[in-house]
Amino acid sequence: MAPKKILLTRIFPSLAIRLLEDAGFEVTSWDKEHPMPYDQMISVAKSCDALFCTLTDKIDRNFLNACSHLDIITQFAVGYDNIDIEEATKLKIPIGYAPNAMNEATADIAFGLMIATARKMFFMNQKIKNGKWGYFDPVGHLGLELKGKTLGILGLGRIGMVMAQRCKGAYDMEIIYHNRSANPKAEKEMRAKRVDFDTLISQSDVISVHCALTPETQGMFNTSVFEKMKPTALFINTARGAIHNEEDLIDALNNGTIWGAGLDVTNPEPMKPDNPLLEMENVCVLPHIGSATITARNEMARMGATNIISFYKHGKVPYIVNPEGL
Ligand code: GLV
Repeated sequence: MAPKKILLTRIFPSLAIRLLEDAGFEVTSWDKEHPMPYDQMISVAKSCDALFCTLTDKIDRNFLNACSHLDIITQFAVGYDNIDIEEATKLKIPIGYAPNAMNEATADIAFGLMIATARKMFFMNQKIKNGKWGYFDPVGHLGLELKGKTLGILGLGRIGMVMAQRCKGAYDMEIIYHNRSANPKAEKEMRAKRVDFDTLISQSDVISVHCALTPETQGMFNTSVFEKMKPTALFINTARGAIHNEEDLIDALNNGTIWGAGLDVTNPEPMKPDNPLLEMENVCVLPHIGSATITARNEMARMGATNIISFYKHGKVPYIVNPEGL
């Protein structure tokens, strides 16, 4: 039998290709650093059996219907808001993903952004590069301390849990969270308290966003939410940029409605270099590198390859979003 053809839409860690080829698959890999153009992705996928894609690929209703022959799609990410899951399920296309692979890596970025923002690290570093390192200034650019502060987590799942553990361990922070369901482990181990959304935003000194992007969370952090936050609050988003309204965030920071923001995700991505957020003293922005460690990226590659191999060999997808699609 001819080998099954797998399309990889980006340059993924070589482990993915090795695992697939060792298992007898034929791999076609897009070899540019930018995402594969949508129309090209459709035309190449038409001659392939399975797709290994990532969050920059639009796997919408149109794509899925044009490529409804695909046996399986697996996503090199934990988030899958770029994929129309409902349509894929209707078409009986199982969708794999990479849960848990980047819990530590992404929580490190959230934790790092929290400290960097509280101490204006990116801005101060920029001052040196701009030749503006003046004398030691007893009253200049003072930051905030985090010891004993309240951390509010929106979406206390796998990544949020690690962020909460970091904050509890390092700063003995009080943990409050807002989630669809309770997290008994966090409540037991960290005395975390589940609260309604209004309590979360009004009581937190640091809000860290770890939920999925859905129609409910899209644009959730807007002016009326920022206005309910403390003027000393830090807003940290390592989930998806579309969860906050960027214009409203810029206004909130300019007006002193909130104190600072640490972002690993923006809307759109990439952020333009003249974005006002990049000039702000109390803002730290990173280019979506939450999962960018060797360990996490190799694990994401392994999970995707395993999903494809296991689907063809055993009819099972171990890391699956839509079991009804199988
Ligand atoms: C990264 O943003 C991911 O969803 O894995």
